[in-house]
Amino acid sequence: MQFDVWTKGLSTLDVDALVLGVFEDGELAGEAGSVNTAVGGRLKSVAARGDIAGEAGNTLLLTDMPGIKATRVLLVGLGTKKNFGRKAWRKTVTTATAALAQTRIARAALALPRPAAKELDDYEFGRAVAAIAGHGLYRTNDMKTGKKPKPPALQTLVAGPVQGTGVAAARRGLIHGAAIGLATTLQRDLGNLAPNICTPTYLGEQARAIGKRYPAVKVQVLDEAAIAKEKMGCFLAVAQGSDQPPHFLVLEYRGTKAGKSGPVVLVGKGITFDTGGISLKDAGGMDEMKYDMSGAAAVLSSVTLAAELKLPLHLVGLVATCENMPSGGAVKPGDIVTSASGQTVEILNTDAEGRLVLCDALHYARRFKPAAVIDIATLTGACVVALGAHHSGLMSNDDALARELVASGVRADDRAWQLPVTEEYGEQLKSNFADMANIAGREGGAITAAAFLAKFAQGLKWAHLDVAGTAYKGGKDKGSTGRPVPLLADFLINRAGR
Ligand code: BES
Ligand code: MN
Ligand code: ZN
Repeated sequence: MQFDVWTKGLSTLDVDALVLGVFEDGELAGEAGSVNTAVGGRLKSVAARGDIAGEAGNTLLLTDMPGIKATRVLLVGLGTKKNFGRKAWRKTVTTATAALAQTRIARAALALPRPAAKELDDYEFGRAVAAIAGHGLYRTNDMKTGKKPKPPALQTLVAGPVQGTGVAAARRGLIHGAAIGLATTLQRDLGNLAPNICTPTYLGEQARAIGKRYPAVKVQVLDEAAIAKEKMGCFLAVAQGSDQPPHFLVLEYRGTKAGKSGPVVLVGKGITFDTGGISLKDAGGMDEMKYDMSGAAAVLSSVTLAAELKLPLHLVGLVATCENMPSGGAVKPGDIVTSASGQTVEILNTDAEGRLVLCDALHYARRFKPAAVIDIATLTGACVVALGAHHSGLMSNDDALARELVASGVRADDRAWQLPVTEEYGEQLKSNFADMANIAGREGGAITAAAFLAKFAQGLKWAHLDVAGTAYKGGKDKGSTGRPVPLLADFLINRAGR
């Protein structure tokens, strides 16, 4: 996809379609007024006839309009003028790109009204247009052998109106948004892959491929022996039930000279399939546990984004990846293992494996003297119960870092909601035989999981994103959502000084 901005002369733009807006009361919005004049009032009569209701989500494609260079006009309903803010605008752009993708239109100009600049400035406008288009044009990487539907024809999107000094800002936004689109695509592709393909070894190969593609990214793939050398007893306990060997991935991107503040370290849960282990899950919907590597995918995607945009930033990505399987050699409830930090853990439920692989990865993060550590994991069903599919769970030992991530989620429309992780929750993890157990009671399950991680993040500025409810959809729309890549992208871009 190519992106650019337009500033004036909509009627003479050399594109296949102009995308214009109509409010619910039939009023032509913004640029649609001048185009209406150019086409001899035809848009107004279409709206007056009621052929487009103007409700949000409606579209109408008009062809062979006289008086303009574009061969088509796509009218898009905007809803009411009163409600037309950032959220409605995003929805309209989503609707418009979906409608364009169903046609043979290759070059389109977006000329929808824009929300107030304080809600969406030129940079944010450009970034959102490109990111939304990237998301909307995604096609699932399925393995169907039948005739493939034609891919969308859309190749170029020119967004506007943008004026004066806003042009450079909007262009920069478009570049960033396009990179977010690519990173989100990687996230979705990795998540959607079948778990017999997307194995720990495959994720290791993907990390290596990122290192090949971006020389600024140094990649290390630790094998089982190297993981044992790091004394990651919790991680190895999870991995031991599987025939697939575990891997620990280290990706280091240097976009700046060594600074005094240390890197941002992202840590991903990379369970490429979670059966629950000996604490076996129910059969229904178990296939969705292929998405249990979404945190790992988010780390790979974020490093890719930083390298693609050459962000002036020092970023480290860590991924602990393995399968959680039952077998004669699998870890059992009651087994006690020693983490890399030296703390012992009684594994009372082998299905609480995410925290086990993450605790050793968090410990590994210490050697980088990080400015911030953020782990990303499809960690608990309890988080899905608490927040559903709309907000990711956010837990942190540092309120400033938590606020920064919440703000990123809002700007990227990939929201997170903070839950408390106070000491009492940690006390619920008491074990009679080890420093801690890997589970607490049923209550506050998303938080007690975070409280477990917090015991390994002491002294670090640490935040945890539980994306169990947001990283993918189940049921008939089954598929990865790409989340929380937009949130992380905003965070990294902001840290680098957008
Ligand atoms: N991967 C699951 C969490 C999960 C559940 C992700 C539903 C997406 C949807 C995790 O490893 C797990 O099994 N957690 C257990 C923890 C429990 C045993 C304390 C859970 O949530 O049931
Ligand atoms: Mn599990
Ligand atoms: Zn899991």
